[in-house]
Amino acid sequence: MSLDPFSLEGRVAVVTGGAGQLGAAIAAGLADRGVHVAVFDVAGAPASDSVRSYEVDVTDREAIAAATAEVVKAWDVPHVLVNAAALDSPPDAPAEEVGRFEGYPVDSFDEIMDVNVKGTFLSCQVVGARMAESGRGSIVNISSIYGMLSPVQDLYEFRRQGGEEFFKPIAYSVSKSALYNLTRYLATYWAKSGVRVNTLTLAGVWNDQPQEFLDAYTARMPIGRMAAAEEVVGPVVFLASDASSYVTGSNVVVDGGWSAW
Ligand SMILES: NC(=O)c1ccc[n+]([C@@H]2O[C@H](COP(=O)([O-])OP(=O)(O)OC[C@H]3O[C@@H](n4cnc5c(N)ncnc54)[C@H](O)[C@@H]3O)[C@@H](O)[C@H]2O)c1
Repeated sequence: MSLDPFSLEGRVAVVTGGAGQLGAAIAAGLADRGVHVAVFDVAGAPASDSVRSYEVDVTDREAIAAATAEVVKAWDVPHVLVNAAALDSPPDAPAEEVGRFEGYPVDSFDEIMDVNVKGTFLSCQVVGARMAESGRGSIVNISSIYGMLSPVQDLYEFRRQGGEEFFKPIAYSVSKSALYNLTRYLATYWAKSGVRVNTLTLAGVWNDQPQEFLDAYTARMPIGRMAAAEEVVGPVVFLASDASSYVTGSNVVVDGGWSAW
């Protein structure tokens, strides 16, 4: 056994959404620390000796179960599950999705809740059950300041200047908010089975956003900049490893101070 409580050497992790911006950084960060990483994503992720990519839609319980069975066979019952798969409304989303709340489409609401909430629920159900049987595991559900607090709609003022409407939509916020009690429920449910469950709440990560948005966002942000994708890895390593052995049901906020004022 390693004397380093942060050591993840030889462990097995499932990262949903591991083909995305943050999921890929988390998968690479875990692989760098000697973890066997299974990416569950509808999109393919680059594979290596320590990273395998599984085509999994997280709204499909059978697909999660089949991929999990393959991971168990190839490596071991996962020690770590990071739920990062999610849908958000991109800046070029159709006008009706970024219009006023009163006209927000029900189909968009359902689609986002399906992936962000049901997908996380199902991944926890399938992978977490295997962890509980094995008496160990750590689940990290990725949420957002937009799920902990309301979006600051003023940040999108630049989109409205040409006369178009733009409101950061409600579904993403509601879906990310739901993860807090999914986490708390499962943390207490599995506490004595050795499975810890925590939420990791993140603020905006730099991804070549429009300069007007970056200016407005960083002016509101105490630390004065967006996060870099790699800055998400340390908090995940903390929550995934024995360094956080007494941490469960919590919300670790990594937001550059966004929620401090
Ligand atoms: N990027 C940010 O600024 C930011 C801020 C706060 C929180 N977050 C959270 O971090 C996580 C990762 O975000 P990101 O920025 O890397 O997003 P991203 O869009 O780059 O990645 C999301 C990934 O989820 C996958 N996905 C979507 N639907 C799926 C499905 N049905 N089944 C399986 N995979 C599916 C996509 O293919 C994609 O690879 C999300 O949970 C997001 O809410 C991101």
